[in-house]
Formats: sequence, C-alpha cells, structure tokens
Amino acid sequence: MISIPVELQDDSYVIDVEQNSLERVGISLASLGNVSRVLLVTDDIVDSIYGNLVSESIVNRGLDLDVMVVPSGEESKSIDVAYSLWEHFLEAGADRRSVVVALGGGVVGDLSGFVAATYQRGIRFFQIPTSLLAQVDSSVGGKTAINLPRGKNMVGAFYQPCGVLIDPNVLSSLSVEHYQSGLGEIIKYGASLDDDFFLFLETNIGKINVRDSSVLEKIVARCCRIKAQIVAEDEKEVTGRRAMLNYGHTLGHALEAALGYGTLPHGYGVSIGSILAARLAARLAAKGDDRFIEINDAWIERQIDLTRKLGLPISLNDIGRSYSDSPETSPKNLLTLATSDKKSEFGLLNFILPVRLGKCIYVKNVDPEDVLAVLN
Ligand SMILES: NC(=O)c1ccc[n+]([C@@H]2O[C@H](COP(=O)([O-])OP(=O)(O)OC[C@H]3O[C@@H](n4cnc5c(N)ncnc54)[C@H](O)[C@@H]3O)[C@@H](O)[C@H]2O)c1
Ligand SMILES: [Zn+2]
Repeated sequence: MISIPVELQDDSYVIDVEQNSLERVGISLASLGNVSRVLLVTDDIVDSIYGNLVSESIVNRGLDLDVMVVPSGEESKSIDVAYSLWEHFLEAGADRRSVVVALGGGVVGDLSGFVAATYQRGIRFFQIPTSLLAQVDSSVGGKTAINLPRGKNMVGAFYQPCGVLIDPNVLSSLSVEHYQSGLGEIIKYGASLDDDFFLFLETNIGKINVRDSSVLEKIVARCCRIKAQIVAEDEKEVTGRRAMLNYGHTLGHALEAALGYGTLPHGYGVSIGSILAARLAARLAAKGDDRFIEINDAWIERQIDLTRKLGLPISLNDIGRSYSDSPETSPKNLLTLATSDKKSEFGLLNFILPVRLGKCIYVKNVDPEDVLAVLN
C-alpha cells in the first residue's frame, strides 16, 4: 500500500492506494470511528460491477448501510439529483455520525461531496474513486460541485474528504475512452510538473497500455502526491499556485466548449491543449523570449511521441475534425472561448507554459496573434 498524506490547515487526511483494496473498504470505514451509518452513493454502471463487493465489505464490519444509485453521466451533477440525495439522507435517518461514501468517477465524487458538504452543514465524506480521472485528479483537492444549465461546476464548495481509498484494479473495467482521458491528465503532470515521472511514463508505455495494475498503482500514487503537494500550498486557489495544475487547459477547455461539452473527452482536450501550449512556448522562444529557451522542436516531439503512444490525440485531425469544420472550432472562436474561460481573468489570454521538462510558469496576457499562429 502507498499512503499519501494530504497536509491541510484544518482537515488533513490520507490517500491510500492499494491493489484490491476495494475488498477492505469496510475496514477503512470502521477505522474512521464513531460511524453510525454509511451512505453509499454510486452510479448505475459502477454499482453493477462493484456494488455488491463494496456493500458486503461494509456490512461485514457491522456498519449500517444505505445505497443510493444515480444515473451514470454528467447530467447527475444537477440540483435535482442533489435534492433527491438530501431527501434520501433525511429518510435514512442520517446524522452527524454518518459518512457519505462516493464510489465512482468524478461525477459521483463531485456530486456526493457537495451533498455531504451541505447536508446538516456538513457531514463526513469518504472517496473511493473508480475512474482514472477521478483517481489522479478529481478525488484530490476538495473541490465539489454541481452544474447549472448554463455553467459547469457553478455551485459548489471546497470540502475535504476524511479519507480516500484507491484500488487501481478497478481500472480494468473502464472504457477505453475514459481510460485514455485519464492518461491525458497523467501526461500533463509529467510534462509540466515532474520530469522523472515523465521519464517513468516513457519507459512504461507498454505496461500502461495493458493497464498493468502495479504500474498503475505507482502512477496514481505519484499523481496524487503531486496534486496534494500543490493543493497544500494553495488549498482555496488564492495564491495562483494551484493554477500550475492547468497545463493544456486554456485551449483544452476552449476545444471542449467549441465541440459542445461531453463531445470531446476532457483528457483529449488537455492533450491537444498541451501540445498547442508547447508550440506556443516554442514560438515565444523563437521570438527571443529567453524564459522558453529550452522549448524547441525536439522537446515538442518527445511530448507528441508519448501522447500518441498512449493513444491520445495531439490535434483535432486525430479525432477526425479540423478547425475549418465549423465556425465554433475556428481559431478566432477558440480565442474568444479561451479569453472568456471562467478560470482565466476575463478578457485576458492566460496560459500555463512549459519552460523545460517538468517545469511550467503562469503567463498572463499572451498576444492573441501568437495563439492564432499556433492554431493555424
Ligand atoms: N473536483 C475536481 O477537482 C475535479 C477535477 C477534474 C474533473 N472533475 C469532474 O469530474 C467529472 C468527470 O469525471 P469522470 O471522467 O470520472 O466521469 P464519470 O464519473 O462520468 O465516469 C466516467 C464513466 O466511467 C464509468 N466508470 C467509472 N468507474 C468505472 C470503472 N471502474 N469501471 C467501469 N466504468 C466506470 C462511469 O459510470 C461513467 O460512465 C466532471 O464532472 C468534472 O467536472 C472534478
Ligand atoms: Zn483537467
């Protein structure tokens, strides 16, 4: 087992990563102490594969259990589904000694975290992330949210779990698309924040592609460690340090929005956005900006090679699209979308750009002409 402490001001906790740990969920929950009831929230797909195993493990420890199954998919991050969970908690007699347990991907994690944060002003919350994206990204950092019809993650709270248990073996049942989407975030961690880790990925491509669980255990733990460190330095996104997690996201988000949310898997957007950001850095270097002196064609080729070998796209062409397909994907519209991204200061084109392997910087107010040049 690999244990990663997440050191926060008030709510420190531990992320445990271990193969086959799903079988011992009950032990982990019982060890929290003073647990009156477990409120297990999951989605229909995850429930059909792992629901029984997890329920048995909980009941076998003598804990009272309620299971709530929501439809799989982004639509469940809604006020209606949140409301039904609050009602269900009340009916089940949930109290301050109850623990909400999220078993599923980022949707179940964000939704149940938000419901746990708000029910009776906050009851304990435990995460068992089952998608690769949730294991390496969304289960770390304490962001919880639901969507509004006109905006993703518009209502939510920073709410840290009391513990996280990750079983890399569950990734064997994940669809190819969702697996690769998680890999997009993983490459991001290596390319922008950890050069040794990038090298580790390059030397383990074959094992990653066959979902070797001991390699995945190491990868998931490393990503959690990187993100936990950054979150500890900037828990509530105040200092800007947390923005360093967003390499590839400025244009990645713009592409997701242009194609209509849910069309382009998030990790694919991150992959394409990362290559574009690398090209932007190389362009700035060629124009004499010394901060990017180490970013050249060879550097970009190395990132492209890893991205491709892990089955991810490096451009819209790779997913059978082109910028000229529609007005939405035109470089001009992508610029507009990137400028109005809620994560950027409105009206400014801000990027996380690489300065060498495993190191990136926040660059404010990039010249739109330079961005257009890499998009064309
Ligand atoms: N809180 C954060 O910091 C944060 C960070 C990134 C993303 N997110 C959010 O995460 C969500 C996306 O997460 P996601 O990609 O995990 O989506 P998801 O939760 O919809 O899971 C993807 C699909 O995989 C299925 N699934 C999950 N685990 C499985 C398994 N082991 N075997 C088989 N099928 C499995 C799910 O049923 C679903 O159909 C978005 O809503 C996004 O906003 C949050
Ligand atoms: Zn992301």
